Order: sequence, then structure tokens, then C-alpha cells
Amino acid sequence: MSTHNVWTHKGTFLLAAVGSAVGLGNLWRFPYLTGENGGGAFILVYALTIFAVGIPILIAETMLGRNSRRSPIMGMRFLTRTHNTSRAWESIGWLGAASAFLILSFYSVIAGWAIHYTWQMLTGSLAGADAATIGAGFDALLASPALLTLYHTLFIVASGLIVGMGIHKGIESGLRIIMPALFVILLIVLAYGVANGDFAAAASFLFTFNLADLSLEGWLAAMGQSFFTLSLGMGAIMAYGAYMSSEISLTRTAIAIAIVDTAVAMVAGLAIFSLVFGADLSPGQGPGLMFVTLPLAFAEMPFGALVGGVFFILVLGAAISSSISLIEPVAAFLVERFDLTRPQAVFAMVMASWALGLLTVASFNVYAEGTIFHTLFGRSAFDFIELLTNIFMPLGGLLIALFAGWALTHSEVMKEMRTNETWFTIWRLLVRFVAPAAVAFVFLRAIPQVEGYLIPAIGALVIVGAFAAGRTFLVDDSQEQ
Ligand code: TRP
Repeated sequence: MSTHNVWTHKGTFLLAAVGSAVGLGNLWRFPYLTGENGGGAFILVYALTIFAVGIPILIAETMLGRNSRRSPIMGMRFLTRTHNTSRAWESIGWLGAASAFLILSFYSVIAGWAIHYTWQMLTGSLAGADAATIGAGFDALLASPALLTLYHTLFIVASGLIVGMGIHKGIESGLRIIMPALFVILLIVLAYGVANGDFAAAASFLFTFNLADLSLEGWLAAMGQSFFTLSLGMGAIMAYGAYMSSEISLTRTAIAIAIVDTAVAMVAGLAIFSLVFGADLSPGQGPGLMFVTLPLAFAEMPFGALVGGVFFILVLGAAISSSISLIEPVAAFLVERFDLTRPQAVFAMVMASWALGLLTVASFNVYAEGTIFHTLFGRSAFDFIELLTNIFMPLGGLLIALFAGWALTHSEVMKEMRTNETWFTIWRLLVRFVAPAAVAFVFLRAIPQVEGYLIPAIGALVIVGAFAAGRTFLVDDSQEQ
């Protein structure tokens, strides 16, 4: 059964995909990674991989969704049938559903922290506080299972309510309010950063270019980030693509998504580091950058409490527009496959993810260390779940690129891309060879044991294997019909 649902407006897919893409990855992860990996050099590689890997896979994933007009799992089942390929490619849908469920479980816990800080900022409880007080406040938040669970619950329920109301009344209308508000807030924070912070230092920190900083690690981190930030490889984009009007060019839309997403990351980076440098704080704080360093900067600035509150509302909005795209693919599958009503399907997905999220909550306090889990997996439950998603997402992207690149026919692709032969050829080259190779490297990097020279060696093996798989399962019968 096909969903046959289409967004009310032509521009909604773009809005929804940008909503999914822009999230904690842009506001926190991008600035922090850039700082760690050589500023401008990192941004150069990041931009390169966005164009050579991100955009082609974005086009491929949207294409699979729009071509099948079904939720990712049912859509892949449909495509393997209509294209006479191995049913193993259905794993794209299952992997995606598993990733969505896992990512949502911890994304909701982390986003919940932003609820806490919005509240703290707006009530002025951090005004004038010093580094020790703010650091202790963050530690106290993490030490409280009750508080973390409360925020986690609030966030996931809010996301579930939006998706439960359906793609038109819920997701579409929700995004039409959230997204413009986010852009306005981002500009307010940037203007505030320029006025009260050290914009020049931020700009030179982010854009100073030093070729010597281009380490292999930096390359890999940049590729991983370009992947994560575009929400690729787990069916979110496929699910949204299934509702996209057939008339729109995928090529142009994908490029627009990538440009807006990158622009948001850059502006957020400039704003955040202006404030950080303006307050004489260190940029390399990792996880603490947004929840300790930034609140500290706000505590010292004029009108910091108000602007800080506004900033954390931005973080929350960006996170919620991402989390609804995590719920949608699984909820749509449950509706199609088991004939559940949409609220039932959303409830099932959200409840399961919520329960799993309790493991992440406990990872920061009661199960912080020394449990059976640590002995078995060598890390906390939170780190383990994150590691799993860091493997699943690139793997999903790799399979998506191969399937779209080898199984779909020339005319199918041309119908979706609406472009000329040159662009078609470039795209196919990228999804058939370049993207799988690049993703193989990112994928292997996610496995901590694989280091040093092993990476290129095993990477090459995987590429050859993927290529062979592509030929065996995809090219033969489907192309001759
Ligand atoms: N792109 C999101 C961000 O930048 C994170 C993310 C990764 C995501 N994969 C996703 C969000 C899938 C929604 C769906 O924060």
C-alpha cells in the first residue's frame, strides 16, 4: 500500500529537509570540530565532501523516496521488486529504522538539556555566575536522573505530538512556524555576538587557512560531519522525499538544502565564537562548549540572560525540527505495514525510543561506570548507542548510493533529477564510485580499533567488495529489461 500523500506546498520538502538537517550538528558539533581540525582547512574539506559526497547521496536518497512513494522499508521492498534486485537491499529500510530509533533515544536526552538552559537563562539564575558555578550546575544536571528524564520526556512528547498530528497539520504547519523563527533568532544572536563579542577573532579562528592542518583525521572528521549534518543514510530524507511533488528538480533542491545547512553552520560558528572569544574563553571545550562555555559567556554580557534564553530556544527549535524527521519514517512504516492509526504508530515509536533513552539518562549518573554494560562493551550505554548509529548511518548511505547508482535506470533518474546528460553523468560517477569510497573511509573510522594504515587498506577492500556487490545484485537483470 502506498501512502500517496504529497506535501501541500511545493517548497515544503525543502523546508522539511532543512529542518531535519539543521540541528545540534550545526549549532554545536560543526563549530567545535572546525576549531579542533584547523579552522579554514577543515571548512574547505567539509565543503568539498558536501558537494562530492553529501549532495549526490542526498539526491539518491530523495530519489528512492519519491520514486517509491512509500515509507523507507516498504519503499525499498517495492523498489527491489520493481527493479528485480536482491531483497537484501531492503536492509536500507531496516537499517534506517534502527538508526532512527537509536538516534532519537539520545538526541531527545541531549536536546532536553536545552530545555533546562532555556529555563535557567530566562529566569536569570545564571546572571553574573562564575565558571565554577556554571560548571557545577552542568554537573548537577547530569547527576540527576529525575531531571534528565523529565526533560527527555518533555522533548520527546512534544516531537511526538507534532508528528502524531500528521504530515500536513503537524509537520508542515509546525515547520512553517519553527523554521522562519529559527532564522530570525540566529540573526539576532549573530548581531548580538558582533556587537558584544569579538567577531574578528571568531572569523579568523574559523576561516584562517593553513594547509599543514589538513591531517587525515581532519579529512575523515569533515566527511563524517558532512554526512551527519545532512541527516543522510537513515531514511529521514527518503520518508520526506516520498511526499515530494514530482515536478520539482531534485538537483536544485539538494543543492539548496546543502547551501542553507552549511550557511547556518557558518553563521552559528561565527556567532558562538564571537561570544566565546569576547568573554576570553577557550574554544576547544568539546561537549561543554554549548552547555558550559556559552552560558558563561552569556552570564558576562549585557542582556546576556535574555539573549541566552533566545539562543537556547533556537537550539530547541532546531533539535525538534530534526527529531520529527526521526519519528516520521518509522511511524509511516507502522501505518503502512500494520494499518495502525498515525497516533498509535507515533506512540509506539516514541515509547520505545523513550524507554531506550533511559539508558542514556543513566549513563550520566547511576550507570556512569563500572556496570556489566561497561565490562561487556567497554563504554557507557550512551557511547555505545552513538557508536552504533555512527556505523549504521554511513553504511545506509553507502547502500543508498549503490542502489540508486546501479539499479535505477537512466530514464528514471533523468525524470527525478531534471537535468542534462552532463550532470547526470557526473552524479552517477559520484554515487557509483566516489561516494561509496568516501563513505567506506568514514565508516571504518567509526570503529575505534581500525587505525593507522589499516584504514586505507581495509577501505580499499570494502570499496572493491561494494563494487562487486553492486554488479552482482544490481546490474544484471534489471538493466536488460
Ligand atoms: N542533521 C542533524 C543535525 O545536524 C542530526 C541528524 C543526523 C539527524 N541524522 C539525522 C536528524 C536524521 C534527523 C534525522 O543535528
